[in-house]
Amino acid sequence: MSESSAAAADAVAARFEELYGSAPDGVWAAPGRVNLIGEHTDYNDGFVMPFALPHTAVAAVSRRDDGVLRLHSDDIGGRVVELAVDDLAPESDKRWTAYPAGVVWALREAGHAVTGADVHLASSVPAGAGLSSSAALEVVVALALNDLFGLGLRGWQLARLSQRAENVYVGAPVGIMDQTASACCEAGHALFLDTRDLSQRQIPFDLAAEGMRLLVVDTQVKHSHSEGEYGKRREGCEKGAALLGVDALRDVPYGELDAALARLGDDEEVRRLVRHVVTEDHRVEQVVSLLESGDTRAIGPLLIEGHASLRDDFRVSCPELDLVVDTAVSAGALGARMTGGGFGGSAIVLVEEGDVPAVTKAVEEAFAAAGFTTPRVFEAVPSAGARRVR
Ligand code: GLA
Repeated sequence: MSESSAAAADAVAARFEELYGSAPDGVWAAPGRVNLIGEHTDYNDGFVMPFALPHTAVAAVSRRDDGVLRLHSDDIGGRVVELAVDDLAPESDKRWTAYPAGVVWALREAGHAVTGADVHLASSVPAGAGLSSSAALEVVVALALNDLFGLGLRGWQLARLSQRAENVYVGAPVGIMDQTASACCEAGHALFLDTRDLSQRQIPFDLAAEGMRLLVVDTQVKHSHSEGEYGKRREGCEKGAALLGVDALRDVPYGELDAALARLGDDEEVRRLVRHVVTEDHRVEQVVSLLESGDTRAIGPLLIEGHASLRDDFRVSCPELDLVVDTAVSAGALGARMTGGGFGGSAIVLVEEGDVPAVTKAVEEAFAAAGFTTPRVFEAVPSAGARRVR
């Protein structure tokens, strides 16, 4: 653990003690993520390739056995919220507390005897930036309760339960990528995940060793109205699968894409969604084989292609994200794309180490010239997944 994360764990533990009157049983951390490639494929049983950010949600937690759940965060809300575990009910809570409470609900619904807890949370994952701040909150609580109640669940199981909390308790129809990334990523690696069976492969991804960097550009555009649009894309994909007679779009082989599109006739909306998902799954497989053969720079054009597909076919980009990608590539970046659900949030930029200042400056100047809010640019190093830190 780095000195700064040890200090963060100490600070969260000290705040817990102030709030609840005794030291926590432990402190856990779970990261946000960026997705290198494989966007809007996870709810189509396809492939994704996220890696964990150094930014984490940190939870100090003590177990309780009296059915009481107390939740607190200084980031949001600022007061202790007290709930009864027996009363937790899906879609009853529109506050931030729905994420941790939803995890308690999902664990109990799955038959695990979670009898209450005191929780204090602090997160450095930017909210609304498409970097999975909500998955980090869910996974850190799931891991803490797994340890404190001796549940013996594995990372992928904690991810599934966290996704269930978000789908059913919070009411957002998200896929499995973000929670799995937060629970299962490893430092120095990207996670190649098959979202159908959750089989995983850790792919070494050490850009610094090869003289490159990956920048995250948070456009500061919060994904407004994104949930309705996200649900619509998901329904459109399911319609496409049904029309093609497959369980999920993952089952349409890349080599049969043209034939599949021809079978969809003039349903242009569905044709575009299908084309994105099938080509995106193919791009993930290409990126994996390039990284495994040490040809890292060659992934750049695939990132750019992926962005064009999300912009033109899937239509989940926005002017700010497009400006990041176009400007970065013109300024010499190897590749760039939006990351996460879209409609705002962040883009990633793959760049030679020596080009970082020029590319950053070009993006900032282009935003100023367009009258957009100044973006937040930071370097992303593939970091550790969820773990106990104290
Ligand atoms: C959001 C969802 C994920 C995934 C991405 C798009 O981050 O939470 O499940 O669908 O969008 O790839």
